[in-house]
Amino acid sequence: MPIDRSIVTKKDIEAGYDAIAGKMYVSEEYYNDMLAIEKDFHGDILEAGVGQGTVLKKISERGGHHIKSLTGIDLSSRLLEMTKKILPQAMLVKGDVEIMPFLDNSFDLVIMVGVFPYLLDIDKALAEVKRVLRSNGKFIVTVPNRKWLLFKNYIKSRKNIQPVDDRFFDFKEMK
Ligand SMILES: C[S@@+](CC[C@H](N)C(=O)[O-])C[C@H]1O[C@@H](n2cnc3c(N)ncnc32)[C@H](O)[C@@H]1O
Repeated sequence: MPIDRSIVTKKDIEAGYDAIAGKMYVSEEYYNDMLAIEKDFHGDILEAGVGQGTVLKKISERGGHHIKSLTGIDLSSRLLEMTKKILPQAMLVKGDVEIMPFLDNSFDLVIMVGVFPYLLDIDKALAEVKRVLRSNGKFIVTVPNRKWLLFKNYIKSRKNIQPVDDRFFDFKEMK
């Protein structure tokens, strides 16, 4: 049955992620495979829905001195505090990816990992990504594929800590 998104609010998402911040599962293998699709990390980089900062930290290590700035935005203060600890050089903002407090044409790369399932207005978030990206910038977006063979196992293993309802996409929908 489709999830009724109207019963989930940004406050629910914020409170849910604050509550599970210390328990979030991080798959090094998944993040490494995902980041292998991009070889060139440079310039000004934004992770929208930065969570505990694992992805942004890996990007900072891969890009090294080619990176000018690292920025993360997230609804959860607790996750942002965790990111601050591992990435003190990043600019971290508590805010909503659907209304980002950044100037037009500010970033060379925007990455959004596992955030699509929680967006209440995907079109708004995509319009924001387009606005803050430079004309030759790149957008990387990932989400678990609903038609993935192991999807059922994945959902079972995460249901105990999942803070709010979410929804998943297949390849066609994401495209
Ligand atoms: C599954 S976690 C992924 C975190 C991180 N990208 C990673 O892969 O480790 C989803 C994150 O999206 C954030 N989030 C969800 N909706 C958001 C919104 N509208 N604006 C900002 N952050 C949001 C949550 O607070 C949470 O940190």
